[in-house]
Amino acid sequence: MKWDDIYFGVDYYPEHWPGERWETDARLMKEAGFDAVRMAEFAWVKMEPELNRFCFEWLDDAITLFASYGLKVILGTPTATPPAWIIESAPEILPVNEKGGRLGFGGRHHDCQSNAEYRKHAVRIVTALAEHYKDNSAVIGWQIDNELGNSHEDLCMCESCRSKFHEWLIKKYITIENLNECWGTIFWSQTYSGFHQIPAPRITPNSHNPSLLLDWKRFCSDLIIEFQQLQIEIIHKICPNHFITHNFMSFFDKIDYFGLATNLDFIGYDQYPGGFWLKDSAFLPPFELAAGLDLMKGLKDKPFWIMEHQAGPAGWETLGPTPRPGQLRMWTSLSVARGADAVFYFRWRSCLFGTEQFWHGILPHSGIPGRRYDEIKKTISELRPVMSKLKGLKSQSNVAILFSYEQNWAIEIQPHHPDLDYIQQIKKYYAYFYDRNIAVDFISEESNFSKHSLIIAPLQFLTNERLVERFKTYVSNGGNLVLTMRTGVKDDNNVCLDSHLPGPFSDLLGIEILDYDCLRELSVQVSLDGKIAGTAQKWCDIISLKSAKAIAHYNGEYYKGVPAATVNALGAGQSYYIGFEPDDALMSNIMDLITSELNIEPIAATPKNIEISRRTSKKGNYYFVLNHSGEKVEFTPNPGWKAVLGSDVLEPYGITVYYF
Ligand code: GAL
Ligand code: ZN
Repeated sequence: MKWDDIYFGVDYYPEHWPGERWETDARLMKEAGFDAVRMAEFAWVKMEPELNRFCFEWLDDAITLFASYGLKVILGTPTATPPAWIIESAPEILPVNEKGGRLGFGGRHHDCQSNAEYRKHAVRIVTALAEHYKDNSAVIGWQIDNELGNSHEDLCMCESCRSKFHEWLIKKYITIENLNECWGTIFWSQTYSGFHQIPAPRITPNSHNPSLLLDWKRFCSDLIIEFQQLQIEIIHKICPNHFITHNFMSFFDKIDYFGLATNLDFIGYDQYPGGFWLKDSAFLPPFELAAGLDLMKGLKDKPFWIMEHQAGPAGWETLGPTPRPGQLRMWTSLSVARGADAVFYFRWRSCLFGTEQFWHGILPHSGIPGRRYDEIKKTISELRPVMSKLKGLKSQSNVAILFSYEQNWAIEIQPHHPDLDYIQQIKKYYAYFYDRNIAVDFISEESNFSKHSLIIAPLQFLTNERLVERFKTYVSNGGNLVLTMRTGVKDDNNVCLDSHLPGPFSDLLGIEILDYDCLRELSVQVSLDGKIAGTAQKWCDIISLKSAKAIAHYNGEYYKGVPAATVNALGAGQSYYIGFEPDDALMSNIMDLITSELNIEPIAATPKNIEISRRTSKKGNYYFVLNHSGEKVEFTPNPGWKAVLGSDVLEPYGITVYYF
């Protein structure tokens, strides 16, 4: 396929610059080693200034010019920015928030994705764009919309969405009696006599029924996936040889990203290590950057593209810090190290106007190349040879973390402890492995478990029998499974099970939980082998053993001496249960205990602030060693490793790539 290659690209907005400047930009891009530009994803008004009057000449000119410099083009569908004339003609397109207020025109994504009028407009512009560019040899693929779900504060709660929700519920529950039963609507006299009575979960005097809330989140996710699908189908039909992707946002959680990924050719990812939104740190901690990338790799179990990579200091009204010399190069290498086959920088040049004036591009406002341009140019020439050996190949890890959007939503609805957060919990387990240079794959409930010798599946709050069976098979066949607190609590309808905890997981784990404690002003010490090993936070499951053995005990409160974590053998494998959220020390101690029994090797030992990851080519392994600190650091490679880029001494934010 034409697009099955390595790409370096930029996000470029020809509509922001006079036509006379385009050629300078194209030349500078070419000189820096770029091969592609992404364009047009916010340019609806320029492509269709009024209903059915399509103006693609300016975009044709831009594409022709960039193509004459050998640059390929990825087009974005502009549906994130319905123009003012559309909103004027159909103000009901504007989304409604949970207070019932309609949001105004401005910003972007001022649209309700279920609205029939908006969809008509979306279908028209996407069809026209695809028809116009289907045979343009410079165009290789498409990005649908932009960061779907972003900017939709509460997701839309308008009447159109509500009636779509009703359709969704009818499909799922068939009869209203069934829904009433499944949701337990007799509680507080909420029994419905028809689907039409069911609200979108706008603000009420008290909390909504958790079953309604969970279905609402599922519905909103499905709605966005369907909105994307509408566009995928149009483009597939008209441009069967082009790829289709979308730009994802790491741990963004309003859409089930596994579902959003299904019908895309590959994942596009927006990588911003130091945005203005961070409150208490300058840049995202390295483990979080790695986790975001690993999640992107896990969504389709294959390499991905970076559709937007930070290119300078970033911010809207307030700014994040300026990437230090070397940092853009190091972050780019980090993306490649974890599976990127293409990197596009956002954006080419800092815009002079609009909301993102201070979201800096590779070029400053002046348009004159400087430090960042030089650094990225160097990065491209260095990384390309390595990337060409790795293209399309995904490295396999022994360890997997199961990520579930549904569990996240259910915990968000009822976090128990006010600070309990599913995603944070996932990241905590991920960080344990990251700190030890052990590679982790993110998987879904549907993944092939047998590829991993250890699977961690935190907070399996909602239960489905199929997953319990899949886990049993996995463990019986020799797999090692770690489950944690609040597992097997509820059914799929977000209703509590009428059994002892952990419900249907009880046999697999060989335990019962008859009592628990939400640790509000408290933390409870936990001992391993009779020694204090750290503290349990937020929650304690008070465990009774059936067939399991205790591997940890509580050392306080009325449950002093009671099992806090357990292991149970089943067939050729074992299931562990951790009945609490561990603090850092306890996480290390308990996970060390679990992993020491398995053959899980780190990639290599590294000094502080040095990250290592591995990508496997057809012939051998490439090891990416990255210095996340502003200090020079020396690294000792394993015997036989050959540096193909850099050396054993890493400059501040330096990188070295070894081959073995
Ligand atoms: C991304 C978005 C881009 C741009 C950038 C800077 O999230 O996809 O269009 O807005 O942030 O704010
Ligand atoms: Zn709506």
